[in-house]
Amino acid sequence: MSLAKQNFSNVVEDSINEQISQEMAASHAYLSIAAFMASDGVALPGFEKFFREQADEERGHAQKLIDYQNKRGGQVILQAVPAPDPEWNSAKNAVESALQMEKGVNKSLLRIEALADENNDAEFVRLLRSEFLKEQVESISEISKLITQLNRVSGDGLGLYLLDQTLLEHGIHGVAGEV
Ligand SMILES: [Fe+2]
Repeated sequence: MSLAKQNFSNVVEDSINEQISQEMAASHAYLSIAAFMASDGVALPGFEKFFREQADEERGHAQKLIDYQNKRGGQVILQAVPAPDPEWNSAKNAVESALQMEKGVNKSLLRIEALADENNDAEFVRLLRSEFLKEQVESISEISKLITQLNRVSGDGLGLYLLDQTLLEHGIHGVAGEV
């Protein structure tokens, strides 16, 4: 039994471990998308850079939850990370799958926020609202704008080259603006 544990339900403790798994799965999927973007038949270094950063960011989210679980006196239990399913046939297709994944992560965060609220865990609700949900909404907005830009250039040709160069030089804010 942890000395630190107070007002921390088992349901919330389990949900944090589940969320750690989700973040690790997202990180793994982004690593796979980054590798696809770097392959010689795709060759989009700007997209590769963006998705590699996304992979690091998701890994950071998992670490933040691990630190939080420990801070509250919960037990960190890691799961096997599922293999991503790299069934993409284009950059656009890969980015669209990233959007679906981010929406899935957001849904899961909203579910655990409701659980934490039901269990009167004000501190965890605060963390989720101030950091995780906020960043999730930003990611969904950025990736949606990236898809709009990809659609604008029909996902190919000179337009795709310019979009990739913009991502490489200015990052996602060069493409999506500040969100
Ligand atoms: Fe995340």
